[in-house]
Amino acid sequence: MVRPGAVHAMAALAAAVTTALLVAATHASPPPDADVIIIGGGTAGCVLAARLCAALPRVRVLLLERGAPRNATEELLVRSPRLVAGSWSTPSVAAAFPSAANAGLRGRPVALVTGATLGGSSAVNAAQWSEPADDGAGAAAWGVAHLTATVAARAYARAAATLGVRVPPRGLRHEYLTDWVAAAAAAGLPRVTDAGGGAPQSRRGVWLQRLAIDGRGRRVDAGRAYVAPAARGACARNLVVRQGVTVARVVLAPHHGRGGGRRGGLVGVVGVEVVPTASAGDGRPPRTTTLRARLGVITAAGPYGSAPLLLRSGIGRPQALRSAGVRPVVDLPVGEGLLARSVGRVVGAYDGVPLAAVNNATLLADPATLRRWRAGRGGPLGAALSVGLGRVTTGEGAYFPAGFASSVPGKPEYNSGCLANPTSRGRLSLPVGAAATDPLTPPRVETNLLGNRRDMATLLACMRKLQAVVEGFRPAFGMTETVPGADTRLTEELVRRTATSGAHLVGGCSVGRVLEATLRVKGVGNLWVVDASALPAMPRSAGPMASVYMLAEHASEAFIRQFRGQ
Ligand SMILES: Cc1cc2nc3c(=O)[nH]c(=O)nc-3n(C[C@H](O)[C@H](O)[C@H](O)COP(=O)(O)OP(=O)(O)OC[C@H]3O[C@@H](n4cnc5c(N)ncnc54)[C@H](O)[C@@H]3O)c2cc1C
Ligand SMILES: *[C@@H]1O[C@H](CO)[C@@H](O)[C@H](O)[C@H]1NC(C)=O
Ligand SMILES: *[C@@H]1O[C@H](CO)[C@@H](O)[C@H](O)[C@H]1NC(C)=O
Repeated sequence: MVRPGAVHAMAALAAAVTTALLVAATHASPPPDADVIIIGGGTAGCVLAARLCAALPRVRVLLLERGAPRNATEELLVRSPRLVAGSWSTPSVAAAFPSAANAGLRGRPVALVTGATLGGSSAVNAAQWSEPADDGAGAAAWGVAHLTATVAARAYARAAATLGVRVPPRGLRHEYLTDWVAAAAAAGLPRVTDAGGGAPQSRRGVWLQRLAIDGRGRRVDAGRAYVAPAARGACARNLVVRQGVTVARVVLAPHHGRGGGRRGGLVGVVGVEVVPTASAGDGRPPRTTTLRARLGVITAAGPYGSAPLLLRSGIGRPQALRSAGVRPVVDLPVGEGLLARSVGRVVGAYDGVPLAAVNNATLLADPATLRRWRAGRGGPLGAALSVGLGRVTTGEGAYFPAGFASSVPGKPEYNSGCLANPTSRGRLSLPVGAAATDPLTPPRVETNLLGNRRDMATLLACMRKLQAVVEGFRPAFGMTETVPGADTRLTEELVRRTATSGAHLVGGCSVGRVLEATLRVKGVGNLWVVDASALPAMPRSAGPMASVYMLAEHASEAFIRQFRGQ
């Protein structure tokens, strides 16, 4: 039992707190199943598991991932960058569900998708590696302990090297990249490096993407780059990866006193409750198992996973918890302050040059193409959905992927889309109704896309720039705008009717609001959140993947210092 008052919040020396809690908590309990339990084998979870088990050979690490091991078909969808869109409609690999209505989109919900397999979203995303265009200032302002711009730069570099991110070699690039660079220059977007240095205006421009894809055209996700080598090597004895189990909630140590855990002291975590993921939809109440952790629990269940997990565990706003049928334990604004990116697409069709191989449906379906890719000789199955990135600085700024592949291949098409830096905030909460506490039901996500005028202005300005890029292709290319369309006026109303989700979502349990600078949940002694939901800001003009890897690398070092000798 944990006696509030015995341990004071002042004692932010987390190591001491953790030990005190655990000595107390383990007295009358069965032996622990692991020393550290990590929830979610996604982008951040795989980094944490691999780094901790390798640096702390005596610490037993248990990584819990809801997705079951992949079969050959599923593995192909994850490994071939060109086929990834097929994974988004494969529930055993990715979870797809609608958002709540967006007022800024005339009440339209948008389709959301997130990874549900080992590697998490890094196994189903566009594999694009982009670091924010702020020289580390953004990360340094998050409020994470010891995370300065310099420390962030080193952690970005460590993750980039572990993944081997690179601009794809020629055989894996799309044709016509040179034409695209020239078209962008004609539209006022010069070729720049993606390193982000220099004055803000000089950060406007285009560059060839670095991708988490190896030289043979295979995706390198967090499972492949971090967990697989660790499990084979340094961590053969102290890392256990369990796939196919969903964590229903974290089990908090009982405590006395009124007003929840925050006033009197810290609540402790005993372990987690898990259910088999395969029990989804079979109508019977799932079989629940409790797994105990000696040192603590790290939540890395991702942008849509960690906040609901805390809410189901009694960490959130008391009134909302009660109406969902959950007993409140710690009062925190979990789920508030969400930031999500919208995307506005600009597409062109060309008839002056041959169809790019990367969008040739016949070629993609040819068994010889698959054989070639399997043999490690690349080809269109090894090419990413987009291969160029660009950045505009109008309004809040935006960045855009561009390329000659499309999710439905077959057409001579050029694809681009603006991902604006958002300022309007949304909210994430438990599902409404009977499924409120069902861990297998997706949460309610108020993305609040284009929720204010500034976000609309930023997106519109960026889309106009992308229209200028389409117009900037040399005449012989035969390029005409098809979306929004050469004869369609790009208006606010059109954007409200067509914008979709950019698949970038952060902030459901962010540092400052919900987490201490150490990423520990406020008021809870040995529970941490390390994933996209911990980020209090959207990485500036960059996807969140690189920043999630960076944060997980940084957090790993702190955990290693803390758990060493325990
Ligand atoms: C389609 C798509 C394309 C994207 N493209 C890019 C891109 O090109 N570049 C970029 O920078 N960013 C991109 N992103 C965003 C980026 O991939 C994510 O922001 C990032 O990977 C999130 O990492 P994470 O560790 O927070 O969560 P995730 O990687 O999503 O990991 C969460 C893990 O937890 C598991 N999990 C969840 N709940 C539970 C539970 N209760 N019990 C057990 N396990 C659980 C999930 O199955 C998952 O494996 C994209 C995202 C998507 C979905
Ligand atoms: C492999 O997974 C796919 C997608 O989930 C599924 O449709 C298929 O039936 C599975 N194949 C086998 C052999 O289990
Ligand atoms: C697609 O590729 C096939 C095989 O290389 C080729 O024969 C065909 O002409 C291509 N299709 C188009 C429209 O270019």
